[in-house]
Parts: sequence; C-alpha cells; structure tokens
Amino acid sequence: MMTLTKLHKMKQAGEKIVCLTAYEASQAYWAVEAGVEVILVGDSLGMVVQGHQNTLPVTLNDMVYHTQMVQRKNHQAWCIADIPFMSDMDLSSVLGAAARLMKEGQANMVKLEGGQRVVEMVKSLANLGVPVCGHLGLLPQSVQKKGYQVAGKEAESAARLLEEAKMLENAGADMLVLECVPALLAKQITDSLSIPVIGIGAGHETDGQVLVLHDVLGLTIGKAPKFSKNFLSEVGSIQTALYQYVSDVKSGQFPASEHCVG
Ligand code: KIV
Ligand code: NA
Repeated sequence: MMTLTKLHKMKQAGEKIVCLTAYEASQAYWAVEAGVEVILVGDSLGMVVQGHQNTLPVTLNDMVYHTQMVQRKNHQAWCIADIPFMSDMDLSSVLGAAARLMKEGQANMVKLEGGQRVVEMVKSLANLGVPVCGHLGLLPQSVQKKGYQVAGKEAESAARLLEEAKMLENAGADMLVLECVPALLAKQITDSLSIPVIGIGAGHETDGQVLVLHDVLGLTIGKAPKFSKNFLSEVGSIQTALYQYVSDVKSGQFPASEHCVG
C-alpha cells in the first residue's frame, strides 16, 4: 500500500512519482496494474465522463460516487479525491466534504484548489488527520473568472505562486499539484518544498507527473491539451499504453519539451 512516508522518500531519492486520474473501478485496477502510484479522482470527470464544458457542475455526491468505485478496485495506489467547486466556500463545508470523501469514498487524501484563500482550511484538515493536496497554477474551478491560461509567467505572479506554495506546506499540506506553470518556476517550487510536487504542464523537473486518463488513451473529445500525450496510439492495448506512461515518467522521457507550456 502506498503511504505518505513512501511518497516523501521518493521525492528525497529523486524517484519520479506517477499519478494518473481514474474515475471508476476498471480504470483504477488497470492503472495500478501498470504501476501508477497515485490515483487522482479528479473533478475533471465533469468534462471527460459527464460531458460538461468545465468542472463547475460536479457535485460532492458525484465525487463520493466515483471515489467509491475507484477504491473498490484500487488495493495499492494512494488515492486523492478532489473537493468540487463550492464545497470549499467555508470551513464547515470543506470539512463536511472531506469527511464524506474519506469515510464514504475511502479516499486517502483530498485536494483543493487555491493558495492563501484555502490556508486556514488546510490547517484545520491537517489538524483533524486529513492529508491535503494543494493545487496551484491554472485553477479549473476559477475558469469563469480567469479562463484557462498559463500561470506565473510574470515575475510578480511567479513570486506569488512560490509564496503560496510555501504557505500551503506550512499550513500542513502533504502534496502539491502544479498545473500549467513554466518549467523553471515549477522546478524552483519543487526545490523549495519538502513535500512532493506533482506537475501537469509544468515541465519535467517536478517530483512527479499527473495526466488525465482520457488524454493518455486518446478518448478525449475534441482537442487534447498540449501538455498531454496519447500513449495508446503507439502501442496495441490499454494495458501497454498505461505501462508506457508509467515507464516514460519514471525514466524522465515524459514530459518532453513539446509538452511544456509558457
Ligand atoms: O481534476 C483533475 O483531473 C485535476 C488534474 C488535472 C490535476 O485536478
Ligand atoms: Na481537479
């Protein structure tokens, strides 16, 4: 069984951490068989599973349901479940959401988007024994206000991101996802924190990588993000594609420069 201690040791040893989204039992099972160490039940399910335009319509009930399915067939990977949009509007709702994801969904960790805004929530969750993953950079739950764009391109916003990453770690976060930030900034943040930093569209120098399963298998409807890669088109089976993803992250072959943003 994967643990926080093992994930911390992997960071210290420079061994890449492989994370992938999964939304139901068979996806989780085959991802784990391929060697995926961290499964993210992402609210990206709103787009790739439910067919919505963005992640905003995803409910806490949806997240609990998908986490339950994943955890029935995941007997090995660390499982992170996303706190959905507006389930973190105040402390009591975020605590209630985490309780359901951990008790009913049996997640190992919850993830919430944002920096300074969520620091007090991270502290409370950590004090209650709930492992928390932060999420900085491009924040899909803020798309109506900010759009989808690379974060931390200017010196000021880069400094702010580094500062917020440290705030999250100091508040008790045990992991951090960085989405769509320049590779150099991602490296700087990774080097500045003792907790594992998982990147998506953040270059190859973070402690690990995460991708959306549907992008890896070419199931995405429309244009897949630049930072993703279809691993199925080069091989014969879903199992081999997942195995290829794991070994390419482990060896540092993914992401290549063509998958970098900013
Ligand atoms: O919901 C999701 O899949 C995510 C990843 C893109 C990090 O949050
Ligand atoms: Na998400």
